[in-house]
Amino acid sequence: MKAFLPSGARPQVALVLGSGLGSYAEQLHQSRSIDYAELGFPRSHVPGHAGRLFYGRAGGVGGVEVLAMQGRIHAYEGHDLQTVVLPVRALCRAGCGIVFLTNAAGGIGEGLAAGDLVLIRDHLNLVGGSPLRGDNDATLGPRFPDMSTVYDLRLRTLAEQVAKRLNVRLPSGVYACGLGPQYETPAEVRMLRTLGADLVGMSTVPEAIAANHMGARVLGISCVTNLAAGISAQALSHDEVTETAGRVRQVFIRLLDGILGEIGRELDASPATR
Ligand code: HPA
Repeated sequence: MKAFLPSGARPQVALVLGSGLGSYAEQLHQSRSIDYAELGFPRSHVPGHAGRLFYGRAGGVGGVEVLAMQGRIHAYEGHDLQTVVLPVRALCRAGCGIVFLTNAAGGIGEGLAAGDLVLIRDHLNLVGGSPLRGDNDATLGPRFPDMSTVYDLRLRTLAEQVAKRLNVRLPSGVYACGLGPQYETPAEVRMLRTLGADLVGMSTVPEAIAANHMGARVLGISCVTNLAAGISAQALSHDEVTETAGRVRQVFIRLLDGILGEIGRELDASPATR
């Protein structure tokens, strides 16, 4: 990682770009990129997950330094959860104190529509495991990490303020993460709604657990690429997921740029919170 970063670089935000949302990395200023394979990161074979790590500044010259992952790997690809979170742990180790997770998700919550962006306020871990299983590495974090505020309150407020300023609707919701790769049945979606889920997907939660374990501040935004099974009359497909993600690309980029710009200003104003 050190050899990849320009000398003097101090990346502060790790950004994970989910299904079909990777193009934001190309907006970074003074950017450079490297293939995951060269960093020893596992590579995703899912279309829409390019497998490159970008370094650059967000929100213009002098903006916050970001390490952006164009795509991620998932447990359903056969990786154990420790492997799934390896890149996020590496980015935290490289100095990122903020982990910004994005994903494509099915919409369950009342009033959600395909194309909506939703701020994750909490999650349900239904993956059937934890990336923290096994011996605890105390250099990463505590054996029993608190999970009462995984999604940083200050960062959520900041994201909501930016969305308001940009006139982008940004409701908040609870994200449920299943193992996949099959989409849910309508009965499972009814169960998830009863459990309090607004969104359903197959990623993000293991990364949020690992980042929270390391003491990073986590921010999460889902792009509702489809209504969940049974809510939509239509059969679900990955093509629909990447198509919708592509359709909201411009709004998503504007929102991310606005939020990262604001995070940069806030970090500059109070470097102690870095
Ligand atoms: N379910 C699970 N994961 C998803 C969905 C969904 O409906 N849409 C995008 N990722």
